[in-house]
Amino acid sequence: MTVTLTPSQQLLTPQLEIRGGAQLQGEVRVSGAKNSALVLMTASLLSADSLRLRNMPALSDIGGMGDILEAIGVRINRGSDWVELQADQLSQVSPPYELVNSLRASFFCIGPLLARLGVARVPLPGGCKIGARPVVEHVKGLKALGAQVTIEHGVVSAVVPGRGHRLTGGRIHLDCPSVGATETLMMAAALADGETVIENAAQEPEVIDLAGLIIAMGGRVRGAGTPTITIVGMEKLHGADYMVIPDRIEAGTLLLAGAITRSCIRVTPVIPEHLGAVISKLEECGCKLSNDGIGITIKADQVNSVDLRTQPFPGFPTDLQAPFMSLLATANGTSVITEAIFENRLQHIGELQRMGAAIRTQGNTAFVEGVARLSGAPVTGSDLRAAAAMVLAGLAADGVTAVQGLQHLDRGYDNLEGKLNALGASIKRTYT
Ligand code: UD1
Repeated sequence: MTVTLTPSQQLLTPQLEIRGGAQLQGEVRVSGAKNSALVLMTASLLSADSLRLRNMPALSDIGGMGDILEAIGVRINRGSDWVELQADQLSQVSPPYELVNSLRASFFCIGPLLARLGVARVPLPGGCKIGARPVVEHVKGLKALGAQVTIEHGVVSAVVPGRGHRLTGGRIHLDCPSVGATETLMMAAALADGETVIENAAQEPEVIDLAGLIIAMGGRVRGAGTPTITIVGMEKLHGADYMVIPDRIEAGTLLLAGAITRSCIRVTPVIPEHLGAVISKLEECGCKLSNDGIGITIKADQVNSVDLRTQPFPGFPTDLQAPFMSLLATANGTSVITEAIFENRLQHIGELQRMGAAIRTQGNTAFVEGVARLSGAPVTGSDLRAAAAMVLAGLAADGVTAVQGLQHLDRGYDNLEGKLNALGASIKRTYT
């Protein structure tokens, strides 16, 4: 969410004060997908023509990506839910460290920059709270397309040798189906000479969205959404007018808000196939879900324990592990949750325990024994999805929960408190 602060508020810590226990009802609108929108913005580097993206979410991460692209010469026009980007006069091959470090997805611009200019220097983004976040697969793939890559002093420098400085299509087998590596390499391959095949590619919906954009820009991509993606490189791509898919993680978080408050709400627009694993788990918990093609209605009464393990798509998404744990902290029985994607993504457990949740951990597995009632407490979200988990827990808790860590929440949720309040929640943004 983009929040405008008065000068005195800027010196204070923002928090959400949630009075728990309200029933929710009505319909709530899902914004455009953050993880798609960020990558689609970097695809503007592939063409000198203008790219218009619609259904853009209002998020601080989107503003941050805009700043990074502007720093390397992209001209940007912003509207309420659209953005127009034109990379006709790129002035830089090297986005600044401070900006890349604050937004990991900006590293992905190495692919299109290299493809377009034959040279790119992007600072290594470093680790983050949830894990190490390596970029080995991105680098390995760029080398397979003919780039010479060195990593020195924390900067990845890539150059395409030879006349024309054009990448050459090739065969790339990813050791793990990294979403970011798949997207970086698809964009690099879109302007390479010849055909590229990416094996063991990520199958996430955001990868399919990027393929849709490359095709709309005149490129040729087959197989996105399967483990083998084929890209035929073009000499040039043109501009496009493109609509970002709805955010499946935001939709899942809102469905969980319905479940944790034992309410009935409708969440729309949703592409149901993007939420298959999440819908199955909610049904396994005893929630009733119905899908009318553009929206999903959830009705929750009793919620029972389930076991879940995070996996690459189409498995259960790691980005909904923390929010789902809040629900299971209130379920009948004991659930076993295993985080198998990121090594340090159980930090929300300590905060849930402060709210009365009964959770034990062993390695990257959590044993969550549902309790009859959570109790409101001051808590902090240590990352984006952990902060969302705290908000959900607060909706179901006795008394008031004060959630801090909103710099994370505002990166990835477009007006979460406004949307929940419109459904009947009681949430106030205050400054302490
Ligand atoms: C993307 C999403 C993020 C989501 C994640 C997993 C964006 C902007 N972010 O992040 O919200 O949580 O997918 O669904 O789209 N890995 C390697 N080597 C590499 C790259 C990755 O071992 O070179 C490992 C990572 O350590 C991690 C796993 O692969 O264990 C998944 O990472 P990846 O798919 O790359 O995540 P991101 O693209 O960074």
